[in-house]
Amino acid sequence: MKIYLIGYMGCGKSTIGRKIADLMGISFVDLDKFIEERYFKSVPAIFAEEGEERFREKERAALLEVSEFENIVIGTGGGAPCFFDNMEVMNSQGVTVYIAPDTEVLATRLIKSKTERPLIVGKSYEDLILFINEALKKRAPYYEKAKIIIRGENNLDPQLVIDKIAQLK
Ligand code: S3P
Repeated sequence: MKIYLIGYMGCGKSTIGRKIADLMGISFVDLDKFIEERYFKSVPAIFAEEGEERFREKERAALLEVSEFENIVIGTGGGAPCFFDNMEVMNSQGVTVYIAPDTEVLATRLIKSKTERPLIVGKSYEDLILFINEALKKRAPYYEKAKIIIRGENNLDPQLVIDKIAQLK
């Protein structure tokens, strides 16, 4: 069993991913953390020193690596599904779940979040709303290749995700 959680920054991939993994008695891996440990560098430092293109290459390599694991929930970075054929890799290896809360919810969470995110640094709530909506226009076609799509849930119940996964088979 391999579960990939995908969706925009702030959609709750890590929070819900950990809960799903706990309930299922399997492990959780956060792709950004995996990259940081693999390359001994934070995501913001990779963006700042090497640029986004190099980050995407590292992200792709990390995705292939974690895809070798069995019985795992993988929380991917918000951009991961939208580069190379990462979506096809994930869909061929496991169950992809797109978590899509409303833009206002994403913006509120991102404003409060302590995680440093290079793509949105310094943005106000209003900036974020515009930025997220623009980004989603480009990213939605990738995200929507997911096997399961969960929209508009602000307090997503991990059990609901597990039930939806069970219904797939
Ligand atoms: C990114 C999302 C981030 C991280 C990087 C780029 C994106 O992950 O991979 O800052 O392009 O959406 P989270 O979605 O976990 O914040």
